Amino acid sequence: MSHENERNERILVIDDEAANLKLLDKMLRAQGYENLVLLNDPREVIGSYQQARPDLILLDINMPHLDGYQVMEQLKALNDPLLPPIVILTAQNGKDYLLRALAAGARDFITKPFDRNELLMRVRNLLDAHLAHRLIHDQKKVLEEMVQIRTEELRNTRLQVVQRLGMAAEYRDEETGNHILRMSHISALLARKIGWSEAACELMLNASPMHDIGKIGIPDAILLKPGKFEPHEWEVMKTHAAIGGKLLDGDDSDLMCMAQEIALSHHEKWDGSGYPNGLSGEAIPQAGRIAALADVFDALTSARPYKKAWTVENAVNLIRENSGKHFDPKLVEIFMQQLPGILKIRERFDE
Ligand SMILES: [Fe+2]
Ligand SMILES: [Fe+2]
Repeated sequence: MSHENERNERILVIDDEAANLKLLDKMLRAQGYENLVLLNDPREVIGSYQQARPDLILLDINMPHLDGYQVMEQLKALNDPLLPPIVILTAQNGKDYLLRALAAGARDFITKPFDRNELLMRVRNLLDAHLAHRLIHDQKKVLEEMVQIRTEELRNTRLQVVQRLGMAAEYRDEETGNHILRMSHISALLARKIGWSEAACELMLNASPMHDIGKIGIPDAILLKPGKFEPHEWEVMKTHAAIGGKLLDGDDSDLMCMAQEIALSHHEKWDGSGYPNGLSGEAIPQAGRIAALADVFDALTSARPYKKAWTVENAVNLIRENSGKHFDPKLVEIFMQQLPGILKIRERFDE
């Protein structure tokens, strides 16, 4: 047998007359179609369809129990995006009749008595069309899955880069990793309580650890100096915000954009007296305002080599006094309401 003749497409044939089934079986087998499912009871179509997953359906119209139209209704109700073409086997002619079958989902007709050549030609054309359709459908699914995997990889890679940058900054800083954890969790909590979406809060959690990344660019003699800064040293120290903004600039992912915004604006103050740009009020990105509040609170209540930890009470008083000066007053209000949750975060990431 030639290669052409070995066809393994599955064909489902439904006709209540045994003679017709037998004839179709013979014609199709002679052409090399081995995967045939023959039914003379239309009530078995759906079960058989789901089991055999045919590539083509040949369907009689006039049958007991269910006619061909009803069978097509049942098949359509399966909502299978890969429903194969349906060919009506019919002795009837007439335009209305054909239109009704087309409207019900038939793709083509074969008139009885069967003409062998006509039958085989239609079967082959429709099978080819269906296999091409299925191939495209499968490829689309594979591509969609690939895009999803790549997107996830990209997201993870970005997160890794950002977290490692944060670690790099910590190596040079007196601030501990726990400060970063507390500050970022407090930031995410405040963001949630002012109504940010869950996704945006997660961004905040991952982006805010970068707030001091610019300290990488500050000379050791200043960064690690014990005790108070001279005014010129303080000016150098302040450049960490702009350096951080520059370091994280140029990527358009949500994560990097927010990290950049926070690094650049976390020392701006509500009344315009902050740095590097002297922004005020709502001109300061909200992410930066949130990070500023969380950062200052945690820095105050943490011990550093050059200072003791403030009590929570003193830190809270300072924040209240600076509402509308250093801090966004609306955020301070939320901060006060959320103090129990904030203290829980402090306990969770204790030094
Ligand atoms: Fe900072
Ligand atoms: Fe900090």
